[in-house]
Amino acid sequence: RSVRVELTVNGQPKQLELDPRVSLLDALREHLHLTGTKKGCDHGQCGACTVLVGGKRLNSCLSLAVMHDGDEVTTIESLGTPDDLHPMQAAFVECDGFQCGYCTPGQIMSALGTLDELERGIPSHVTADLNTVEYSDDEVRERMSGNICRCAAYPNIVRAVRSVHE
Ligand code: FES
Repeated sequence: RSVRVELTVNGQPKQLELDPRVSLLDALREHLHLTGTKKGCDHGQCGACTVLVGGKRLNSCLSLAVMHDGDEVTTIESLGTPDDLHPMQAAFVECDGFQCGYCTPGQIMSALGTLDELERGIPSHVTADLNTVEYSDDEVRERMSGNICRCAAYPNIVRAVRSVHE
């Protein structure tokens, strides 16, 4: 039996009739045809499916769409266009933060979540002092550690994220 799920996706209200077992990732890709969000492992291991829900990062493969009824979801499609890149997209290009590009939408959404966490002073596992969230390569690496890049573009990804912050 399908259930009704209402989402706001990239600012647009969407109503879906879904099998309750459909993941948020499949709802985005298969039902809303927003294929910028990638499916790598489908098991919470790679981060390719990262989106923002209510401004916070989420592996959309790990969450059922029905759990997000009423939520605001932001995907890579909400960012720039080829002619007018979002600053984070431009930074990835500028810093060569990818090779094959498959992980890049997830990396970029995760990077935006990372910057937001840093701006709001949210501590990570490597933050020793909760009152001084330090902004460093290690901090970015730790916060982005859920996003795997099989081409190992990590140093350039870290550089890209930091270049937007600085
Ligand atoms: Fe969701 Fe890999 S596809 S973490």
